[in-house]
Amino acid sequence: MTKNPKQEWEEAVNKTVQRFPERKETFTTSSDIEVDRLYLPEKEDEKYVEKLGFPGQYPYTRGIQPTMYRSRFWTMRQYAGFGSAKETNERFRYLLEQGQTGLSVAFDLPTQIGYDSDDPMSDGEVGKVGVAIDTLQDMEDLLEGIPLNQVSTSMTINAPASVLLCMYIAVGEKQGVAKESLTGTIQNDILKEYIARGTYIFPPKPSMRLITNIFKYCEQYVPKFNTISISGYHIREAGSTAVQEVAFTLANGMAYVDAALESGLEIDQFAPRLAFFFNAHNNFFEEIAKFRVARRLWAKIMREKYGAKNPKSWKLRFHTQTGGSTLTAQQPDNNIVRVTLQALSAVLGGTQSLHTNSRDEALALPTEESARIALRTQQIIAHESGVADTVDPIAGSYYVESLMDQMEEEVEKYLGKIEEFGGAVQAVEEGYMQREIHQAAYETQKKMENKEEIVVGLNQFEVDEELHPDLLKVDEKLERNQINSLKDVKAKRDQEIVNKTLTRLEKAAKNSNENLIPYILEAVKAYASVGEICNVLRNQFGEYVG
Ligand code: 3HC
Repeated sequence: MTKNPKQEWEEAVNKTVQRFPERKETFTTSSDIEVDRLYLPEKEDEKYVEKLGFPGQYPYTRGIQPTMYRSRFWTMRQYAGFGSAKETNERFRYLLEQGQTGLSVAFDLPTQIGYDSDDPMSDGEVGKVGVAIDTLQDMEDLLEGIPLNQVSTSMTINAPASVLLCMYIAVGEKQGVAKESLTGTIQNDILKEYIARGTYIFPPKPSMRLITNIFKYCEQYVPKFNTISISGYHIREAGSTAVQEVAFTLANGMAYVDAALESGLEIDQFAPRLAFFFNAHNNFFEEIAKFRVARRLWAKIMREKYGAKNPKSWKLRFHTQTGGSTLTAQQPDNNIVRVTLQALSAVLGGTQSLHTNSRDEALALPTEESARIALRTQQIIAHESGVADTVDPIAGSYYVESLMDQMEEEVEKYLGKIEEFGGAVQAVEEGYMQREIHQAAYETQKKMENKEEIVVGLNQFEVDEELHPDLLKVDEKLERNQINSLKDVKAKRDQEIVNKTLTRLEKAAKNSNENLIPYILEAVKAYASVGEICNVLRNQFGEYVG
């Protein structure tokens, strides 16, 4: 006799709580009313189960874990990085002391585009929008005193993702942490860079090769590492709608799956370590519906279209960042309210990891105080609001479920159009997604300018104010100091070994059947720099001209 879905869920709960016990014996409201683990409709008909299912069960509409936040809150993972590796290490330690539960590295633009700090292309950008990383020495300084067997680290790096991943592995080894035990995520999503963010280096084909090289290498040697964070965040920041954010992200996800299959990997070998990254924007219920639609659709795509058998391949696990583009320079404290609502939508949408923006980020990188308030926002939602005490409280909302069905229909229309181009890579090369996003951005801008859309403090409820509260300033001497420390590393390293590793990398790059990760790993261990390694690859692959 087959078990009914509810019995299956109850069994999954009993299994899960062995490793992840619930946070409390009982959860109650202020009036001492006990809060159940899960609330269901009076009559659980077939349709209900098929469309929503149980938490931790296909299609995961109600969340990917049977007990969700009753067992474990989402990871509080603040994106941070500026100046030198040492300065950022201090901010990392501060945030960990203040209770954040995961690391997230912001790299400066030279690092993200594969230039060393002493490259003329880096002039004026060293350490500006993130931390400057040139060689393994910088990575050692960045992670000094942070136990990599206890903390998971996300790295927002795409074109040179392979280089920074290898540096992370090398630091792990120096700490005595085997690569098999390393946990974290490498963003490694080049398609959204072509579409929206712009930190690309190589053309699509070699970029997809490097991406699937990481899939293959990690499947074998770094099995707990999430090998890609397929991002909708930046697509939304570029002005897309919520529907486009989901559609273009899932389309990119399918392009990565196709590329991995073409490289010879089996679906269940790499799919469990695909991760996602979405924006949390202003329209509260639309955002909650968006996360649920993305999860339900991805589950269907993986099981029905790709035939994945391992339930871990069906689960869409995602990080959320509140919408940077919604922050205003005017009345910065208003941003604390915006971020709170956006963070709440991500939690009610079932996010696994969350970054909350700081109030001053429309003006500069966050001060320590602003970063602390952003983290406290998450902690207050987690510990004081009660929303984490029952699994998926939003299910059953007629509005959200109707919104979901309509959004899902629109997303599927976009997926069909992208299919007609031959998939996301071709659609990107034709500029299709870019055009759709630009049109949506233009519509939004018009609505703000004619006050159809109110932005409090910006186009209504303005006040006369000094626009510049105390902002974080990156030390002007940083660029000079960083260039000098790079010089010191180059003077100390064994140049002959560096040359040998770069020559071996160059040879391997010529043969498209070679996995380049081992070659990059030996180069970073010899203290070859990000720029030196990326220049070898530029010579082989050329550069993408968007
Ligand atoms: N019950 C049972 N198990 C549970 C559980 C529960 N309730 N909650 C968690 N777990 C388990 C998970 O299954 C996992 O174990 P596993 O790895 O063995 O499966 C473990 O506990 C850790 O939980 P998660 O994997 O859910 O949480 P993580 O935080 O480790 O991972 C992620 C979340 C989304 C999968 C991961 O990819 C991640 O951390 N992503 C972060 C990406 C990020 O921070 N990006 C920043 C980008 S910034 C940027 O680009 C913007 C800039 O350009 C402006």
